Amino acid sequence: MNVLLISPGYPADMPEFTRGLAESGANVIGIGDQGKGALPELVQKFLSHYVEVPSLWKTSDVISALHAQLRGISLDRIECLWEPGIMLAAELRAHFGVPGLTVEQAHRFRDKEAMKVAIDAAGIRTPRHISVDTVAGCWDAALEIGFPVILKPIAGAGSSDTYRVNNEDEMRMALPLLRHVNTVSVEEFVDGEEYTYDTITVGGKISYFNVAWYRPRPLIARSNEWISPQVIALRDVDQANLVDGIKMGQQVIDALGLDTGFTHMEWYRKADGEVVFGEIGARPPGAHQVDQMKYACDFDVFRAWGQAIAQGKMEMEIERLYNVAIIFKRARGVGRIQRIEGMEALQQRFGEHVVWETLLRPGMQRRDWLKTLVSDGFVMLRHPDLQQTLDMADAVGTGLNLYAG
Ligand SMILES: Nc1ncnc2c1ncn2[C@@H]1O[C@H](COP(=O)(O)OP(=O)(O)O)[C@@H](O)[C@H]1O
Ligand SMILES: [Mg+2]
Repeated sequence: MNVLLISPGYPADMPEFTRGLAESGANVIGIGDQGKGALPELVQKFLSHYVEVPSLWKTSDVISALHAQLRGISLDRIECLWEPGIMLAAELRAHFGVPGLTVEQAHRFRDKEAMKVAIDAAGIRTPRHISVDTVAGCWDAALEIGFPVILKPIAGAGSSDTYRVNNEDEMRMALPLLRHVNTVSVEEFVDGEEYTYDTITVGGKISYFNVAWYRPRPLIARSNEWISPQVIALRDVDQANLVDGIKMGQQVIDALGLDTGFTHMEWYRKADGEVVFGEIGARPPGAHQVDQMKYACDFDVFRAWGQAIAQGKMEMEIERLYNVAIIFKRARGVGRIQRIEGMEALQQRFGEHVVWETLLRPGMQRRDWLKTLVSDGFVMLRHPDLQQTLDMADAVGTGLNLYAG
C-alpha cells in the first residue's frame, strides 16, 4: 500500500501522523516544499521516499514532479491532513485515479457556501446564509437576514476576518476591513455554546469520534487578548446536551459523502436546545486537539487514523477515561517573557493531572497572539470528572500569568 502524504512535516502534529501511517503497514511517500533535511526527525524516519517541490500550490508542477520521481511506483491513497492542501489532494487523486474525496466533494469541505448548500439540501439546520461579493450585496444580505449577523470569508480559518455585526453602524465599520476578501458569507448570528464533533471515518462509517467544548467560543477568544482560551475534550459524550449535535454530525458526514479519513466539525447549541451546523473540514482539528484525544482515551490516535487509511479498518478498543482540557496562555505586555507567576502553586495543587505544558520561559520572545492558536504556550490537564477538570482549567486561566516586557 503506497500512500502519498502531502506536507508530512508541517504543521506541527504531522510527524505523528506519518508514524501512525507507516506503523499501520503503509509505504509512506511524502511530498512537500520543505527541504528533506528540514523535515522533523520522526518524519524522516518513517517516510520511504520524499518528493521535494518548490511550491505545493501549482498542481500541474506537482503532478510533473511526481511523474518524474515516482517512476514505477503506483499510488493507492493520497492524503492531506492540512486544510490548504485538501483541494490539491483531490486534484492529484483525480489525475492518478486514486480513491478518496473527489474534487467535487473536497470543494464542499473547502467552500463554506457550497458546504452549507449541500447541508441545507440534506435538511440539516445551518445558520441563514447568503454569499456575496460586493459591499452592496453585504448590505442587502444583512438587511434580509437581520442583525446581528456574522461576516466571514467563505474559505477562512482560525476566525480570521470574521466579524459579529450588531447594527448598521458596526456594519459600516466592518466592511472596509473585509475589502481584501473576495467572497464574504453573511450569516445569521447564532448565539449559544460551541462544540466540535470530530471523527475518524472508515468506509463512510464513524469508527471513532470526539466532542470538545470551546470555552469561550472561538470568535470571542480570538477578539479578546486577556482571555485564556480553553478547549475541553469531553469524556461523557452521552450527556443530554450533546445528543442532537452528535446526531447532526453523523448526518453531515453522510450528506457530504466522506469515505475514509479524519473530519473536524464545529456546531452550536442554542439556549433553547436547538443545534446548528457551523463548519466541517476533511482533516483533523489543529492546535493539539488530536493530542487531547490521545490523552482522553490513552490510545494511539495517529495509528488509528493510519489503520483507517492503510487497512480500511480501525482495530482499537477505545474507552473514554478522562476529560482533557487545554488552556492557552497569553502573556501580558510585549517583548520577551520576564516572569511566570502562579506556576508553583498550581503545580502543588494539581500537578499530577497535568499531562503537558509548553509555556514560553523567561527570556523568550512572546508570540503574536493573533497569529498563533497556541499563544505563549499551553497547559494540558485531565481528570475523569468534568467539574474538576473545569475547575482546574479555570484556575490555570486566572491563577497562572506570564509577563512580558
Ligand atoms: N453564524 C455564526 N453565528 C455565531 N458565531 C459564528 C457564526 N459563524 C462563525 N461564528 C464564530 O466565528 C468563529 C469562526 O468561524 P468559522 O465558521 O468556524 O470559521 P473558521 O474557524 O474557519 O475561521 C466560530 O468558531 C464562531 O465562534
Ligand atoms: Mg471554525
